[in-house]
Amino acid sequence: MTANELRSKYIEFFKSKNHAEISGQSLIPENDPSVLFTTAGMHPLVPYLLGEKHPAGTRLTDYQKCVRTGDIDEVGDPSHLTCFEMLGNWSLGDYFKKESIAFSYEFLTSKDWLALDPRKISVTVFAGDENAPRDEEAASYWKEVGMPEDKIAYLPASDNWWAAGPTGPCGPDTEIFYWVGEGLPPQGSNKGTDSANWMEIWNNVFMQFERKDEKTLIPLPKQNVDTGMGLERTNCILQGKTSVYLTEVFQPIIAVIEKLANYKYGTDEAKDRSVRIIADHSRSSVFILGDQKGVAPSNIGAGYVLRRLIRRAVREGMKLGIDKAFLAEIAEAVIENFKGAYPELEQNAQKVKSELTQEEAKFRDALKNGEKEFQKMIPNLMKNPKKEVSGKTAFKLFDTFGFPLELTMELAAENGFTVDTEGFKEAERRHKEASKSLDAGSAKGGLAEQSDVTTKYHTATHLLQQALINVLGEQVAQKGSNINNERMRFDFTFERPMTKEEIQQVQDIVNEQIKADLPVTMEIMPLDKAKEEGARALFTNKYGEDVKVYTIGTKDKWFSKEVCGGPHVQHTAQIGDFKIEKEQSSSAGVRRIRATISGGLPLDK
Ligand code: ALA
Repeated sequence: MTANELRSKYIEFFKSKNHAEISGQSLIPENDPSVLFTTAGMHPLVPYLLGEKHPAGTRLTDYQKCVRTGDIDEVGDPSHLTCFEMLGNWSLGDYFKKESIAFSYEFLTSKDWLALDPRKISVTVFAGDENAPRDEEAASYWKEVGMPEDKIAYLPASDNWWAAGPTGPCGPDTEIFYWVGEGLPPQGSNKGTDSANWMEIWNNVFMQFERKDEKTLIPLPKQNVDTGMGLERTNCILQGKTSVYLTEVFQPIIAVIEKLANYKYGTDEAKDRSVRIIADHSRSSVFILGDQKGVAPSNIGAGYVLRRLIRRAVREGMKLGIDKAFLAEIAEAVIENFKGAYPELEQNAQKVKSELTQEEAKFRDALKNGEKEFQKMIPNLMKNPKKEVSGKTAFKLFDTFGFPLELTMELAAENGFTVDTEGFKEAERRHKEASKSLDAGSAKGGLAEQSDVTTKYHTATHLLQQALINVLGEQVAQKGSNINNERMRFDFTFERPMTKEEIQQVQDIVNEQIKADLPVTMEIMPLDKAKEEGARALFTNKYGEDVKVYTIGTKDKWFSKEVCGGPHVQHTAQIGDFKIEKEQSSSAGVRRIRATISGGLPLDK
């Protein structure tokens, strides 16, 4: 079986169990200031797990591209990835533990589906704590499908409690493992007794709680199921391979790297590591750049993560002796390999390649500048009796010029100096701590918080989009939006800066709609009907799919109509005063508006 087949089979299986497919969501979360990327299939579903109605129903399935950079330092070993695909199925207040376990077991072991050997499967369930009892219920359903008692391990919350963030939907889970040791697992072996030989392939979370803050956990209105299966890993074990990099998910990418570096993968451990880092990071970079809401390299947020991924890949390429720009060539192999499942990659291929080439050139220049800076420092270093480059200086070269520590050490050695590497690590650690607390600051409230303020901003973006179209014309199309509790950002296609008058006009129109206190209503209908009614639809809804349509105004006389997941205010006076703070260029042909709101009536509860 190939990864493509596994992906299709999974979706087909859950469709046969009456799940609606909702694949095709962006990697960049909409209206969620707390995370930079979609980190799990459930991420776009947070509002629905908290109780909003989903237009596609109560049983959902999809495959979802995800990026997690928490383990980035481990990428390079044979198993870690920054970009992966998650296969998921959800019950929104529909079935619960019994069916979820039965579905998973059937898909994994049935001859019609994956046909895995049941003797090589073991599971874990929640051992219980002050938040929820020992999950005898899940265990009993496992026994019902035939799981022997000794293959069920009861583990604590650190293993068997899942939450996407510090707040939001969460609950106990049951995890499914596959034996990757020699032969068959010995009697009594499970994740609790032999953690190294059991590889997690699927996580079924029973989301029945919402974490409000550190101390408060409340039951959700409905009992949901959220599952996630790692595509690359499961594909790897199905093929009996020891590393995801040895599967067809990565082999075509690795083949290009082999050719560029004139090196055969598998002959030198240090070089293999470089190859894996390049393969993983270039795949992540292509997915991020080629996303339907693509992000460009920059010094903040998601753009900064992208920049670091690209730079790290280039640096590893240098270690392999690749002395010309090479990422665009690898990108072609990535796009070719994944365009079937992610057509946006092919649509954005030109942009992906040109951004990669530019960023790579910038980095190569930065390295040259770093070297010059270093030369300038030499006279001062000569005076230093310790003949040592301080950690602070080395870190500055790294942080400001992107100049890696190893290069500083090489240059230092050539000139008869050493580098205080401990000092460098200390400076790096302090820097990381500082940026972590920044991250934590932006994540205040956590993943799931759809606070009233963000809801108000969300409705304001609909008003703003329509006002822009009224003033500037139909060529205005939303390119992305980003909301936090302090401001909104709205990107849209338009060729030139707006004039002062135009900005004022747009602001006035939005404020008029707010003053008129228009009702905001939601209706679920098929996408084609929504379009017929004149609703604006963004991104990747599929023809025939049921969607939510938000109308601002009355049925006969509305100001704005958009296909959107919500949530929104109930009537526009809840938004308050709307002010455009800034209008500027975002990228070629795209303008960006920063706006704030203040005051406004409280939302109805
Ligand atoms: N959301 C769960 C996970 O990511 C399924 O593991």
